[in-house]
Amino acid sequence: MDGQPRRLQRPRRRGGHARRARSVRPSRAEGPDYGPLLLPLDDEQLADTLRAGWNAFWSYDPDLTEAARPLHDWLSHPTDSDIRGLADYARVLVRTGLLEYCSDVTRAESDDVLGLLITRMRSYSERQSTGEFFTPAVATNFMGDMLFSSGRRPGDLLLEPTAGTGTMARSAAATMRFCGTDPAAYRWWLNDLDPLNAACCAVNAQIWRLGRQVTVSCGDALKHPRLLEEAVQERAERACAEQKARPVLYPTTTRPPFWPWQSVPPS
Ligand SMILES: C[S@@+](CC[C@H](N)C(=O)[O-])C[C@H]1O[C@@H](n2cnc3c(N)ncnc32)[C@H](O)[C@@H]1O
Repeated sequence: MDGQPRRLQRPRRRGGHARRARSVRPSRAEGPDYGPLLLPLDDEQLADTLRAGWNAFWSYDPDLTEAARPLHDWLSHPTDSDIRGLADYARVLVRTGLLEYCSDVTRAESDDVLGLLITRMRSYSERQSTGEFFTPAVATNFMGDMLFSSGRRPGDLLLEPTAGTGTMARSAAATMRFCGTDPAAYRWWLNDLDPLNAACCAVNAQIWRLGRQVTVSCGDALKHPRLLEEAVQERAERACAEQKARPVLYPTTTRPPFWPWQSVPPS
């Protein structure tokens, strides 16, 4: 080798990344098929189902659910227009293949959809103030390969102090899987200054199957790394204690759905 990192050749995906999902079916044959159950629901029922989904996440991992709070807190006091908007948007997402995207790890790890969404939602000047310009997939994929080719071992901690929505972790996990290693065998710590970015990291960690040893935090990684560590520890302890006292995060009439990764034993 000439010292240059070798670009790993990933096999081409059938149909390529641009393949359009036309149905609501998840692509895993054994996966639950929620699409036909979700689409006929009325607006209130869809909101109730979404609450039930967060309840399932809460029972699976209270600490990550706490980190994701900016994404679901509004469900405890939504306005009528929030509910209408949510329901319309949810139906569009389900019809255009959100469930397929989430249930197919190869597709989910091909790009950071939440990161792309955040980039669209924020103005250029907003993003400029914290340097919030996420690295495109074509560059992070190359960096993921470099990271993994330099002798990582299961159990190592992979720390991203300015993670954005976590797209570097996405690429690293994709490279690991490509090389036959389970990303869940590693420890991950994703931090960002922005609470919404950190919340997206918590959800992305599920979508990208990073496993049970994931920490997501929101703080200034450059000024106070030690304080950040203490805050993370405290939040995890608080969230676990709260979850024991309050097994349901949001009251619902819908039964919590099967949580796809619930059967994975802690590594
Ligand atoms: C250029 S983006 C990179 C994000 C990600 N690492 C990537 O490659 O896509 C920089 C990120 O750092 C975050 N950030 C800026 N200052 C920070 C600080 N002091 N502590 C933690 N995160 C910070 C911003 O919110 C932003 O999401």
